[in-house]
Amino acid sequence: MRTNTLGRRRKLVGLAVVRHSGVRLYFAQLGIIFLVALVCGSGGVLAESSGKSDYIAVCASCHGENGRGNGEAKYTLAGLEPTDLTTLSERNGGQFPSEEVYRAIDGRDQILGHEHRRMPMWGLDFQKQGDEFTELSEAQVKARISNLVEYIRSMQRK
Ligand code: HEC
Repeated sequence: MRTNTLGRRRKLVGLAVVRHSGVRLYFAQLGIIFLVALVCGSGGVLAESSGKSDYIAVCASCHGENGRGNGEAKYTLAGLEPTDLTTLSERNGGQFPSEEVYRAIDGRDQILGHEHRRMPMWGLDFQKQGDEFTELSEAQVKARISNLVEYIRSMQRK
């Protein structure tokens, strides 16, 4: 009798251990799913503010979807002459002027240089609202402008 119950107990304990490791495995799987979701999620966020989607969302109205400077605003805002962004390399001896393009988009160091600038200052517009000019906000601004520069590079007419 005694050994029997003991045996049963052992069996039960054994089962509990098996179950327990099952639970652990379950949590491990949950953890992996969570990590995968996290990575995909952040990938999604990055993709959302990719150069292309940002361009279409906030630049195309002036510079045109194809970058040639013929967005709708050209016809509604008097005298607005958005630059043709597909000929930047061509007009710079065949080399894409990334630094200048970056600075033109950011705009903050051109305040004195271009008095009649009509291009918005994306270095300000892209700041994280309520958290402007913090390291994080500036890093986000930099990432977005850099993605835009790369997208504009890819638009260059050969
Ligand atoms: C309200 C209209 C408008 C919007 C929106 C706009 N731009 Fe502009 N952009 C201009 C105008 C106009 C110019 C010509 C310079 C000037 O008048 O300020 C210009 C100039 C530029 C230049 C300088 C080109 C050169 O010759 O060096 C770049 C690069 C540029 N824009 C990129 C962008 C990007 C990227 C976006 C979106 C994040 C954008 N622009 C959104 C109107 C606009």
